[in-house]
Amino acid sequence: MKEKIDAIQAEALARLATADDTRALEDARVAILGKKGSLTEISAGMRDVPKEQKAEIGQLLNTARNAITAAIESKQAELQAAADAKALAGIDLTLPARALSHGSLHPLTLIRHQAIEVLRRMGFALADGPEIEDEFHCFDALNTPADHPARNEKDTFYFDSGKLLRTHTSSVQIRTMEAQAPPVRIIAPGSAYRRDEIDATHLSVFNQLEGLYVDRDVSLGDLKGTLEYFFREMFGSETEVRFRPHFFPFTEPSFEIDVKLHAKGQAPKWIEVAGCGMVDPAVFAAIDAKRSDSSFSPDQVTGFAFGMGLDRLAMIRWGIKDIRLLIENDIRFLKQFA
Ligand code: DAH
Repeated sequence: MKEKIDAIQAEALARLATADDTRALEDARVAILGKKGSLTEISAGMRDVPKEQKAEIGQLLNTARNAITAAIESKQAELQAAADAKALAGIDLTLPARALSHGSLHPLTLIRHQAIEVLRRMGFALADGPEIEDEFHCFDALNTPADHPARNEKDTFYFDSGKLLRTHTSSVQIRTMEAQAPPVRIIAPGSAYRRDEIDATHLSVFNQLEGLYVDRDVSLGDLKGTLEYFFREMFGSETEVRFRPHFFPFTEPSFEIDVKLHAKGQAPKWIEVAGCGMVDPAVFAAIDAKRSDSSFSPDQVTGFAFGMGLDRLAMIRWGIKDIRLLIENDIRFLKQFA
């Protein structure tokens, strides 16, 4: 038995040594360790080994199996290494890597970042508020009477609970004044929602940027200076800015702001970019009624507010003709801003 085991082991190791591909190695493994393999068969002979020799023979069989298994593993590694080396031999390591394609910021993000950057330099801090609002913050506190068309079911998304999707970011004015005493100097970029027919200039979700400055003695001059500076920073230092009287429930006086646009190949034209005005004392009165400290008492403070559509600013800046391009995620469109 001992000699047989030695012979099988020697033969097996010799065969493994000459296996020069994975196929030959697998055949050899089966011939030695498989169900009918040489080592398997001789191991079956353990049954007939006299009791006093069992330990010794068992030990020998184990040693043989271990040696053979180790030989198979090292051969496998050797063949794998050879295959790897062969595969790598065809690779030109001096070839430059393929360029990674970078993503880029969406035009709306670019315009929002720029607007925030300019206004922060003037001391405005970021503020925000909920997109699901109540009528008080979206309308009542903003001096917008119950019969105002903006509150119409046709124009506003109402929930059964009576809450609504905010129709403008002006609600953040109210949220902020409820939460902090003057001076208040905030901007609030964010989404607004209206039940508009979707077309080249309207979406039912759009982006606004609200601003509010409240302190003692804030004047119309402050409003004009701030917003003129802002739009010149946005559209170029030569940009002409005009304030056209208008009406908003929450400001008095109110204005729409136009900038004069010089598009290539077109006669210059005025185009509306924002609404603004001096905060209506009725708004301060609504806040005053909510707070216990009278810090927004209409005879103590004045302020100005403004609101603009960021989608619109982006469209003007880059001559985008259809607002829907801003939400379609067409890579051919977006690539132009990379
Ligand atoms: N909330 C107005 C809108 O959505 C925009 C606006 C106008 C905001 C005048 C203001 C403002 O803060 O003073 O059309």
